[in-house]
Amino acid sequence: MQTKIIALDPLHPDKQAIGQAAAIIRRGGLVAFPTETVYGLGGDATNCEAVKKIYQAKGRASDNPLIIHIAAMSDLARYAAAVPESAKKLAAAFWPGPLTMILPKKEIIPAAVSGGLDTVAVRLPSDQIARSLIRAAGTAIAAPSANLSGKPSPTTPAHVIADLNGRVEMILAAGSCTVGLESTVISLTGATARLLRPGGITYEMLCRVLGDVEIDAGVTHRVDDRARVASPGMKYKHYAPNARLTLVKGGAPACARYIKAHILDPGKEGVVCFDEETPLYAGYRVFPYGGRDQDNQQGQRLFAVLRSLDQAGITRAYVRCPDTAGVGLAVYNRLLRAAAFDLVEV
Ligand code: TXA
Ligand code: MG
Repeated sequence: MQTKIIALDPLHPDKQAIGQAAAIIRRGGLVAFPTETVYGLGGDATNCEAVKKIYQAKGRASDNPLIIHIAAMSDLARYAAAVPESAKKLAAAFWPGPLTMILPKKEIIPAAVSGGLDTVAVRLPSDQIARSLIRAAGTAIAAPSANLSGKPSPTTPAHVIADLNGRVEMILAAGSCTVGLESTVISLTGATARLLRPGGITYEMLCRVLGDVEIDAGVTHRVDDRARVASPGMKYKHYAPNARLTLVKGGAPACARYIKAHILDPGKEGVVCFDEETPLYAGYRVFPYGGRDQDNQQGQRLFAVLRSLDQAGITRAYVRCPDTAGVGLAVYNRLLRAAAFDLVEV
């Protein structure tokens, strides 16, 4: 398939280009588009054939459900069978934005979207291009991250093109995503709200609105593939570069000692550390991913840094473990998976 790549101004997207992209969605085709979190691989959420194409283009397991994206709060009732008080409060506080809510689903959402679950994941993105596209398409857009399954999520047009050129009809290209990590996913189907995937809307922010929020064990621990998993996406190895990663947790000097003692081939083995720690690794191949206390910056840069390891021919990297407050919990969650839970404390 020939992929049409269209560059757009993030704040004033060309209406004609949005119209073309929306027409592709309406007739069941696929369009990759920017959101504030990561780029999405979009198709009509109410069209089974389009949804099938999404799974094929990504190489994704069909039991891992998709998020549907809407353009206005008033669209929610078309797709969700019930909207609890907690959902209304969260929407008022954080929509449009990087928050996905799991709610009971309506019939209009095919089983293929929800991996056979009786719930649906819904998000109202803040990105102008995303919202214009959804509005113009006149339907909810199902969109996983626009990467090949298992690869780090795409936060720039170059990432999307590397993974999906030839696999989608159109790519809307509009610079780097501002959050850089996939949306926060919260389930509102039980008695207590449950955080399934941390993201730009932090645990602390959710607690301020809801009072009580449980953190699913899968956020910080390996979930057994055979166990029933609250969010199926969490059981797959994810976000991983080709390089093998080890997360190293501890103080800066102790981590530097450990990492330097373990790097055997400095040509092919690298260090992913905080910006201010690069002097500790003089002579090594260093990939800084943000300031030590800059959780938002770490989130914004993480996936690009993971992809750059592969481009640099790094086969093994040691990664400084982030603090888990704020967006740090999301950075930690993604890094744990990228490292297949290989974490050492020094
Ligand atoms: O920021 C984002 O959320 C991006 C952009 C494109 O919006 N999308 C994204 O989609 O990250 P994806 O498919 O890569 O991740 C969807 C996550 C998976 O972990 C999946 O298991 C979970 O949401 N999910 C979807 N529907 C669910 C449901 N009904 N119940 C529980 N988890 C669900
Ligand atoms: Mg994904």
